[in-house]
Amino acid sequence: MQIIHSVAELRRQVGAWRAAGERVALVPTMGNLHAGHLKLVTRALDCADRVVVSIFVNPMQFSDASGSGGDFERYPRTLDADCEKLAAVDLVFSPSVDEVYPNGLAAETRVEVPGISDILCGEYRPGHFVGVATVVAKLFNMAQPDVALFGEKDFQQLLVIRRLVADLCFPVEIIGVPTEREADGLAMSSRNQYLSPDERRRAPVLYQSLQQARQRVIAGERDAAAIRAQAFAQLEAAGFRPEYFEVRRQRDLHIATESDVAEDLVIVAAAWLGEARLIDNLVVA
Ligand code: PAJ
Repeated sequence: MQIIHSVAELRRQVGAWRAAGERVALVPTMGNLHAGHLKLVTRALDCADRVVVSIFVNPMQFSDASGSGGDFERYPRTLDADCEKLAAVDLVFSPSVDEVYPNGLAAETRVEVPGISDILCGEYRPGHFVGVATVVAKLFNMAQPDVALFGEKDFQQLLVIRRLVADLCFPVEIIGVPTEREADGLAMSSRNQYLSPDERRRAPVLYQSLQQARQRVIAGERDAAAIRAQAFAQLEAAGFRPEYFEVRRQRDLHIATESDVAEDLVIVAAAWLGEARLIDNLVVA
């Protein structure tokens, strides 16, 4: 496994593989790798000849990138430990902020996927999905993969990326990978380490509330406000500060209507527990 920091070197290596007729997969990450990331890597190894993992904490998707003490600054950076977990991949691409944004963050071209970027997480984190779409577009042009893998854990992000690829005609196949969970149901996330031991014990309530809502939808309930009220009450009783808890259409995250069958729906939620903002989702069928 080689570690590369520059775009020129990355392109040289990937270009050589592609010229030899090899299929190249890209797994974009922000590092601090856990079993959820590694599931994407395993899937990538299955579907391509060469696997590139990018590790880049992308300042453009954090609202406080220039401030101190915020989410961007405290985001865990563990490159050496990450590389140890990636022995099976061909290449780790770990660029500096200047390598990705040579003109400085404020002056860089941005990529905006309208509509889907403005709802749910986009409403609570303005500009977040512009940062995600921009860096993913750049990574696709830098690495020029045949296929790229993303987690369904970030359901809205996956839809943003599918739209980005369709709208800008990127010749990249997008594969979504199911959410990897802890034994008690908590979705794996780099942010789980911000939880205190007591918060960690309560954290699975988020997944439990999604499962209960799913049962209600399967039983025919379509009153999103009633489902939300019950989930908010359950989450607040466990010490969460919920942002949203919504029954939405899987294909575009629009508000579900009477005519949507259960199989088309997904339940999406975001809630703070202490210092951690947790997100999760559950497809209904
Ligand atoms: P990051 O949070 O590091 O996640 C990298 C990839 O791992 C994403 O596709 C995410 O959906 C997936 N992932 C995270 N937790 C997972 C889990 N428990 N099960 C399955 N997959 C999981 O998402 C990002 O980074 C960034 O926004 C990025 C796409 C790299 C752009 O900067």
